[in-house]
Amino acid sequence: MADHVLFVCKSCGFSAEEDERNGISGGNFLCDRLKEKCETWQYVDRVAVQAVGCLCICEQPCAIAISHPTKPTFLFVNLSPENVAADILKMCELYVDSDSGMVSRHLLPESMQVARLARIPALADATPRSPALG
Ligand code: FES
Repeated sequence: MADHVLFVCKSCGFSAEEDERNGISGGNFLCDRLKEKCETWQYVDRVAVQAVGCLCICEQPCAIAISHPTKPTFLFVNLSPENVAADILKMCELYVDSDSGMVSRHLLPESMQVARLARIPALADATPRSPALG
């Protein structure tokens, strides 16, 4: 069973100016490309690709995030759905192969280097606090 999840916003446009082509959103287009590539992807058992309604960065489509219970989650934006699927899967491979989930920017495919926007710590790394302490 896959222990990593690639979240893909199915609602994103092809760009900030173009929501759909032939009635298909950029995010759904990207999901279809990823689905095709996953058929022969050697990491398919490690990464579940999950379409989601929105990643709340709608002004910078397309958006994806890679996540794991004990690794930081990384958010990527401004991805071009026509030609980024292979680069996304390469980024996923590097993330899976890293025990910490940390991948140096220069190791990522070029399209992913400029697209990485945020790193959110793993929940497993959170310090438990009393609600009264905030
Ligand atoms: S529509 Fe894709 S992030 Fe909101």
